[in-house]
Amino acid sequence: MDGNGRWARQRFLPRIAGHRRGVENVRSTVRACAQKGIEFLTLFAFSSENWRRPADEVSFLMQLFVIALEQEVAKLHENDIRFKVIGDLSRFEPRLTRLIAEAEQLTRDNTRLTLTVAANYGGRWDIIQAVTRMLKDKPQLADGFAEVDLSPYLSLAYAPEPDLFIRTGGEQRISNFLLWQLAYTEMYFTDTLWPDFDTAALDRAITSYRQRERRFGHTSEQLQAVAAESTLRHASEGR
Ligand code: IPE
Ligand code: MG
Repeated sequence: MDGNGRWARQRFLPRIAGHRRGVENVRSTVRACAQKGIEFLTLFAFSSENWRRPADEVSFLMQLFVIALEQEVAKLHENDIRFKVIGDLSRFEPRLTRLIAEAEQLTRDNTRLTLTVAANYGGRWDIIQAVTRMLKDKPQLADGFAEVDLSPYLSLAYAPEPDLFIRTGGEQRISNFLLWQLAYTEMYFTDTLWPDFDTAALDRAITSYRQRERRFGHTSEQLQAVAAESTLRHASEGR
């Protein structure tokens, strides 16, 4: 969710006004995704590198996170949304980690949409913490392990790999987001600043995604053959 600061600067407002507007946009984006039947939405809110920002901006962002949790969690729950946070929470103040734990606990059985917020998250951190925990559990894997051994230890083990990655704000890079999980994800980059990324912008991203062919290493001809076969099978089953 990039571009809050620039959105504010364009309006001669302080950066924090952009972050406030960014949170409002999270609310409408979550609503739009739930309405579209999207089952998993993961938002990169704060990276492990964002601590390098001026102290007052960091502390405002933390405050904003606390306020957002206090105000929104009940509404998420009413809307059958499961809330999760991934990242290294050890650096957050106890009040924030307590709110996160309560929110996760309250919403744990909800099934309509899983909303994950990545906070103090880094893709490399995730891989390292996963390997560390895996080897602690299963020291015998130190001689070699497979993807299936590691997957359960990654932060997003509860979610399928993402279909679509969207980066707002004009930058065309991953910036240490879900490095492992993005292996086959379709990438979408837009100049639109996060506070301006409205439902129409989301629709444009989804339309772009739908026009792509996901081959997962296969050839186009193989996929067409499989599609044709399944059409035939459906036809012969009278569907
Ligand atoms: C993204 O907006 C929000 C956070 C990283 C918390 P930025 O703050 O990066 O906005 P720009 O890039 O300065 O416009
Ligand atoms: Mg930025």
